[in-house]
Amino acid sequence: MTANPEPRAVCFPMLKGGFGKSTFVSTLGGILGDMRGHEVLVVDLDPAGHLSTGLGYYTRENDEATDLADVLLGDESVDAIVKNPGHGFDFVPALNLESVTDALSKDSVLASDLKMKQELVDEHLGDRYDYILFDVPGSRNKLTNNAVVAAPNAILPLMPVPEALNGLRETATRLVGPIRSQLGNFEILATVPNDMSARIDHQTKDRKLLESMNTQESFASLLLAGRDGVDARSGTLPAGTEVETVLDNHIPSFARIRADEWEAIDAGEMDPPKPPIRHTGAVGDAYEAREPLPSYDPENSQLEYFGEIADIIERGGIEQ
Ligand SMILES: Nc1ncnc2c1ncn2[C@@H]1O[C@H](COP(=O)(O)OP(=O)(O)OP(=O)(O)O)[C@@H](O)[C@H]1O
Ligand SMILES: [Mg+2]
Repeated sequence: MTANPEPRAVCFPMLKGGFGKSTFVSTLGGILGDMRGHEVLVVDLDPAGHLSTGLGYYTRENDEATDLADVLLGDESVDAIVKNPGHGFDFVPALNLESVTDALSKDSVLASDLKMKQELVDEHLGDRYDYILFDVPGSRNKLTNNAVVAAPNAILPLMPVPEALNGLRETATRLVGPIRSQLGNFEILATVPNDMSARIDHQTKDRKLLESMNTQESFASLLLAGRDGVDARSGTLPAGTEVETVLDNHIPSFARIRADEWEAIDAGEMDPPKPPIRHTGAVGDAYEAREPLPSYDPENSQLEYFGEIADIIERGGIEQ
């Protein structure tokens, strides 16, 4: 356990479904809470409630039940909705979230995006919790807005599929850029390849993703969307900003492959690494067992890499 960690709220706001947001949230919740002994709150803001289901909670109850709307817009304390699934973190399940977004939409436009920050994060982060992690849906709604305002630190998982870079582009230009322009500070702590399985010394989809992440100026420009002089739409960085430095600061070392290493791989001089985070059947099995991965399979080989992401959350960035 790290002494006196700096409290931090983290969101996983990828505007594309199925890249591993919910898997990351429950796994990192387990590592930070169960394995490292921090006080952690995990909040499911996805109306589909996959995370809640995966931890054994129902997402629909009668309208009388106390839910997030009563905390954000009413007088109810967060204690009324916090559960303890028993994996080292407290949990707010996705209960009646359609009605929560409806209620927020009726509130005044500006104030309604600040509710999560004011009523939950400002009240409890640093006091009761060291870390608050928000799982959000793969499309934008009122609760996504609330999450990015409340938790200005993002982790972005990407899968080796053709839509991956489009997903990041949407997220960068429609969410991160505008948030930075309007609110100033918003950090992408890391972008992380997930569900990897193929070799990278051949032209596989895994190689395609890693090569784009590790070499392209346009990829770097998405990570800095909304900052001065950055044109994320056309994919350019301001003069004097090094692509390599931006990538070093946003890709964990286990997924960072530099130009000389690509050359060595292609010349057959280097054993092609099998870059994490790899596809592991234990993720689906843990979900079926209604447990986070660290509880279900503490010896899982990929937990080492999730641990590196937890380090990045603790430090507040890759190079601090
Ligand atoms: N490293 C992995 N190995 C094996 N399966 C994985 C891995 N990461 C994610 N998955 C699986 O991929 C699917 C999508 O993952 P997950 O639900 O975490 O993504 P998501 O971004 O939260 O999706 P949504 O936007 O639908 O909520 C799930 O079935 C999950 O079990
Ligand atoms: Mg999800």
